[in-house]
Amino acid sequence: MTDYKTLTEELTSLVAGVPHRTADLANASALLFSALPDLNWAGFYLSEGERLILGPFQGRPACIEIPFGRGVCGTAAREDRTVLVPDVHLFPGHIACDGASRSEIVVPLHGDDGRVVGVLDLDSPLPARFTEEDRAGLEAFARVLEKEVF
Ligand code: SME
Repeated sequence: MTDYKTLTEELTSLVAGVPHRTADLANASALLFSALPDLNWAGFYLSEGERLILGPFQGRPACIEIPFGRGVCGTAAREDRTVLVPDVHLFPGHIACDGASRSEIVVPLHGDDGRVVGVLDLDSPLPARFTEEDRAGLEAFARVLEKEVF
C-alpha cells in the first residue's frame, strides 16, 4: 500500500516555493514513478484550449496531443472528473501510447479559476492496478500541485 501522506509531504517539499512549472512537474512525475510500484508511465498533459499537450513525464515516449473528450485523458479533462480504468481494453476510445498498459487513472488539475489546466496520468502494465485508495491519494497529490504549481 502506498503511503500517500508521506508522498504528498515529499511533493510539497519538492515544489513549494519553486516558481518553475516544468521543473515542478518533472520532479512530481519522477516522485510518482519511483514511489509507486507497477507503473509504466507517470506524467502530465497540459491544456491548450480544448487540447491536451504532452508535459513532463516518466516512461516511454507518448502521444503529443489529445483532444478534450478523447481517450481516458481527454474524458477526464472534458468531464472534469477522475477516471479510473481497470482494463484499458474495455474503455472505448482508449489511446494506446504504450501497448503494455493495462490499467490507468487520470486526475484533472484545476487553475485558480476552476478550469481544467491539465491532467495527471498514471499507467500500469497490471490490470486493475489502481484502487479507490489510489484515487483518494492521487487526488490529494493533485491538490498540492494546484496550490503550489498552477
Ligand atoms: N492512454 C491515454 C493516453 C496517454 S498515454 O497512455 C501516456 C488515454 O487514453 O488518454
